[in-house]
Amino acid sequence: MKPKCVVALALPNELLAHLAEHYEVLPWTEAQAISEAELVNRLPGAQGLLCTLTSPVTPAMIEVADRLKVISTISVGVDHIDLLAASRAAIPVGHTPGVLVDSTADLTLALMLAVTRRVAEADRWIRAGHWTDGWQSDLLLGTDISQATIGIVGLGPIGEAVVTRLKGFGCRVLTWNRTPKQVAGTEPVALDALFAQSDIVSLHTALTEETTHIANRARLASMPSGSSLINTGRGLLVDEVALIDEVQSGRLMAGLDVFVNEPLPVDHPFKRLNNVVMLPHLGSATASTRDAMVARALDNLHAGMAGQRVPFCANPEVYEVDG
Ligand code: DGY
Repeated sequence: MKPKCVVALALPNELLAHLAEHYEVLPWTEAQAISEAELVNRLPGAQGLLCTLTSPVTPAMIEVADRLKVISTISVGVDHIDLLAASRAAIPVGHTPGVLVDSTADLTLALMLAVTRRVAEADRWIRAGHWTDGWQSDLLLGTDISQATIGIVGLGPIGEAVVTRLKGFGCRVLTWNRTPKQVAGTEPVALDALFAQSDIVSLHTALTEETTHIANRARLASMPSGSSLINTGRGLLVDEVALIDEVQSGRLMAGLDVFVNEPLPVDHPFKRLNNVVMLPHLGSATASTRDAMVARALDNLHAGMAGQRVPFCANPEVYEVDG
């Protein structure tokens, strides 16, 4: 009898067929995320769980998953999984670091440029039929990245890749990292100073209890008028209510790939504001990066199911238990 593997997201048929060669697969075929109740129903007896950031993995799920040997998420972020509960149950959690660094850094630059040069707003303006007078000296003026001070919060691989790209623009780059880190050509500063001195603040920390609302109301309020917040990390890194106040007042601009609630509610205030550029969580959304993420997640899944060490493990402490 093949071991049971729960798949908590809709996947292409070829991929499900590949999984079915090894496992008894319990697939999820709907476009909307699987509900917590549905996942709880499916987990008893399962040895593997393949999931992504749309399905939280809670302590209650881990408790009912009496035979689970591995959780493999198709994402680098693991904030949707209760890591502590997984570790307590000695279940390794596989994730996909590394392969999405360049795609996410590229999209961060796209958002910085879109916000400061008003790219999305200008596109909407043309489509709405407003371009009737040809070139105008004061039309849709923006600001220059090359003249900006840019603050990078978090110097993991993605933050560092953003710094590498910014060097090409010749701008001043301030950095903050939880454990102090020096990156050539940048100035490490305290977090409050970074917010207060930057024309653009870009968030690249993992979401943890410590980093939740790292862009809080006070820090947002300290940003210079006309400056921008860019977020390609996780929605909860920002106090979204405070950010709404800042962008609604016109004091700040924002480029956001991630939100507290995804999908963004139909009537969300961001949707009415020209000074906010929104993307539907596309940081890693290139065909080759998504293929690489799936490949990494499958390697993690297969290793865990076979009782081998999961190659990209977010809770390696599960392997350090003596005895
Ligand atoms: C991740 O991997 O955590 C991204 O947010 C989605 O690709």
